[in-house]
Amino acid sequence: MIFARNFVLGLLCRATMVMSKAIARDVNSPLSIVTTTRTVTASASTSSSSLTLATPGAPVSPKVLLIANTFEFGYLDAYNFTIQYTGVLFDQILACTDDGTICKLECGQELVSASQITALLMIPGVNLKKAYIIITGTGGVNPKYGTAGGTAISTFGIQWEWGGMFLGDDLPANFSGQYFFSYAQLTPDQYPVTVGSEVYKLNEALVDRFYATGSNVTYENVSETAQDLRATYEYDAAKREPFLARCDTVSSQVYWHGNVAGENVEYYSNVITNGQARPCNTNEDDQGRLLALFYGAVHDLVDFGRVSMIKAFSNFDRPPPQLTAYQSRFYVGEGATEPGLRNAWKTIIAIVDDVLENWNTVFDAGIEPNTYMGDIKGTLGGVCDFNSTSSAAKGSVQGS
Ligand SMILES: *[C@@H]1O[C@H](CO)[C@@H](O)[C@H](O)[C@H]1NC(C)=O
Ligand SMILES: *[C@@H]1O[C@H](CO)[C@@H](O)[C@H](O)[C@H]1NC(C)=O
Ligand SMILES: *[C@@H]1O[C@H](CO)[C@@H](O)[C@H](O)[C@H]1NC(C)=O
Ligand SMILES: *[C@@H]1O[C@H](CO)[C@@H](O)[C@H](O)[C@H]1NC(C)=O
Ligand SMILES: *[C@@H]1O[C@H](CO)[C@@H](O)[C@H](O)[C@H]1NC(C)=O
Repeated sequence: MIFARNFVLGLLCRATMVMSKAIARDVNSPLSIVTTTRTVTASASTSSSSLTLATPGAPVSPKVLLIANTFEFGYLDAYNFTIQYTGVLFDQILACTDDGTICKLECGQELVSASQITALLMIPGVNLKKAYIIITGTGGVNPKYGTAGGTAISTFGIQWEWGGMFLGDDLPANFSGQYFFSYAQLTPDQYPVTVGSEVYKLNEALVDRFYATGSNVTYENVSETAQDLRATYEYDAAKREPFLARCDTVSSQVYWHGNVAGENVEYYSNVITNGQARPCNTNEDDQGRLLALFYGAVHDLVDFGRVSMIKAFSNFDRPPPQLTAYQSRFYVGEGATEPGLRNAWKTIIAIVDDVLENWNTVFDAGIEPNTYMGDIKGTLGGVCDFNSTSSAAKGSVQGS
């Protein structure tokens, strides 16, 4: 226990350091509160003084669009974004390099980002039809698949926002999935009733390509305290040095943490994707972004086959055996945010280099998906390959 406590205190200092740095970086955002890596930016304003405003309607067709929070862009200095584009109902930062090749969108999270991206898609002159759109930022990591300070590239984006919930003693004894289910699931093999935005499956062939390029990047280590902590997890992936994992993203407006919530999320992800997803990245950002980009694709403003998610792991999504969820969430905190973000941006820079170097031969025409790509209802065409048979555990029930 003493070991655990010292450990926790050591990490606490670390997490606090990260936090004050984060706040210092965000001086231009008056209402930006970095309480977590899931940065809340109430009003997006960045170093706008260094940006030249483009004439309204000026055309730009980037090859790459990077999407993250303002704070997370603070760790990227490989590109100079010099020209800012504005539009009606759009109060975020869309800024591009001088030649218009690479742009960044500084935006919010989930529902908020969905609305912001919709406004972005309506800016006259901004043409994203050929852009490779990379959603990045930070999240928690499932220790079964990755480690703090590492990163992941995902094929599936999943939300449980439409799930139902019974808490504590209200939970019926026959509910194996505890809090999360989509409306009802009467038997283990019955697929739940869905709304439509529960799952987006990205272009798996693009993930293959980006993963191969990204796996070549050398990562920096996490602090010694974080190395000691990761060694106490039961899972091999957690014990590793930071690496690029290939596993999936689950997000919601609720910040969950701990074994019970973590396992529920895994259970839900398993049911909703017929067991195809390997849920590792937990955050409060991504499904709203995917939703808006998906509707952009339905209306031919975005090529969904060019959308990808490459994210950093700021912390584990559950404690190691010697800590409680509370200690892990509030004392360990998100101490791997900084190395995680630097590792994620390194990966993304390598991928952007690949896109630009091989634009004419590979990326201009696009990379054909090699498996089903789209939403849970086949809206973009093709036959959805994860929306029929439920793979819930035998004997489990999630409703009646
Ligand atoms: C960005 O602009 C600064 C100032 O002009 C320059 O020193 C720096 O080299 C530029 N960086 C890149 C990546 O072009
Ligand atoms: C699950 O438990 C509830 C509450 O006890 C009960 O009403 C329901 O019939 C059960 N469902 C199934 C499928 O057994
Ligand atoms: C990985 O790096 C090596 C050495 O620089 C290079 O030869 C190889 O093409 C790279 N592979 C990928 C997939 O980028
Ligand atoms: C990370 O730290 C561990 C333990 O000190 C060390 O064995 C390893 O070589 C380091 N890795 C990197 C990439 O620096
Ligand atoms: C699964 O996707 C197909 C299209 O491939 C669609 O027709 C069907 O309604 C979907 N089922 C569910 C449960 O969403």
